[in-house]
Amino acid sequence: RRHFTVLAVESSADDTCAAIVTSSRQILSNVVIKQHDLHEGFGGIHPMIAIEAHQRNMPIAVKRALGEAKLDVSKDIDGIAFTRGPGIGGCLSVGSNAAKTLAAALNLPIVGVHHMQAHALTPLLTSWPNPPKFPFLTLLISGGHTLLLLATSLTSFRILATTPDESIGRTFDKVSRMLELKWSNLGPGAALEQFCAQTWESDLPKIPALPWPMRGKLGFSYASFHSYVERYISSRGGIQELDMATKLALARTFQTAAVAHLEEKLVLAYEWCVTQNIEVCDVVVSGGVASNQFLRGRLQECLIKLNPVNPISLCFPPPHLCTDNAVMIAWASMHRFLARDYDDYTVNLRSKWNI
Ligand code: KG4
Ligand code: ZN
Repeated sequence: RRHFTVLAVESSADDTCAAIVTSSRQILSNVVIKQHDLHEGFGGIHPMIAIEAHQRNMPIAVKRALGEAKLDVSKDIDGIAFTRGPGIGGCLSVGSNAAKTLAAALNLPIVGVHHMQAHALTPLLTSWPNPPKFPFLTLLISGGHTLLLLATSLTSFRILATTPDESIGRTFDKVSRMLELKWSNLGPGAALEQFCAQTWESDLPKIPALPWPMRGKLGFSYASFHSYVERYISSRGGIQELDMATKLALARTFQTAAVAHLEEKLVLAYEWCVTQNIEVCDVVVSGGVASNQFLRGRLQECLIKLNPVNPISLCFPPPHLCTDNAVMIAWASMHRFLARDYDDYTVNLRSKWNI
């Protein structure tokens, strides 16, 4: 018979997603309904508002995914996948109920997917026919995650570093807002990158070095980066008192330190792999922050230094598949559907779920 076709839904955080993907790697549709404007001003995701938005948007997302793929759900879909966790319980339950009810009504098998595993497996879909080879390292850097993973097979992953406080993406956002940069449709993080990239002919003032949290340890911490910038600005009497050159020096010092923090952890992770006799040939960098060109250049240089003879290759999935989406959920479920390793309709959610 033809390839296997999966309809997947994802609703673990603030995006309502539905997608259709086949076992021959065709992405037939990819619908993402964002709700960040609803959470503006809460300093994070407001769970009740997110749940209500998922409830409103899930039927729309599923209908659109089927429409864009021009498929008839009763004939063309072979399995239903959903995000089982980790995530906000109430948000996950919207996707899970949608998936289970569809599957039960259509008599289709279901598979519940681990959200972080799905992120980690994305390059196997997007970098075809030259996907990263196991074992590979994944740096997942976005508004929701700051994570360094080692993927050793389709089903085995290890978190090497994560953060107890703020994500790198939110830190870029906060610093950009403190500097009062204009961001129009770029978003605050990308605006900060663009601001730093401007040419500046004269000398810039010296800014004292940023703190280096968790030096030498496999762990991220970005909270002190933004409090550093906040303190610096208030010590100078507020943002209105800073001239352009000082603002630029501050922004560049922050961006360089934020990226140096990632580089240090990547090197530590690589060295740890060497001590474990794990031979890593590929590093995948994904998430919204991975679109930063300065970061890409620095990581590339860092990997060449690590292994000048046989440089580790660096892979960036396309931005729209780095952020939360249901394509990655469909893809991560595929090997289980093909092995007929389905979940029961009674499968529970795992709001907290080790990878
Ligand atoms: O993965 P993503 O699109 O979505 C969520 O995590 O929800 O990541 C968004 C984050 C935001 O914090 C945004 O400011 C940041 O990625 N970002 C950037 C750049 N583009 C997006 N940060 C630094 N440099 C960029 N060019
Ligand atoms: Zn995610």
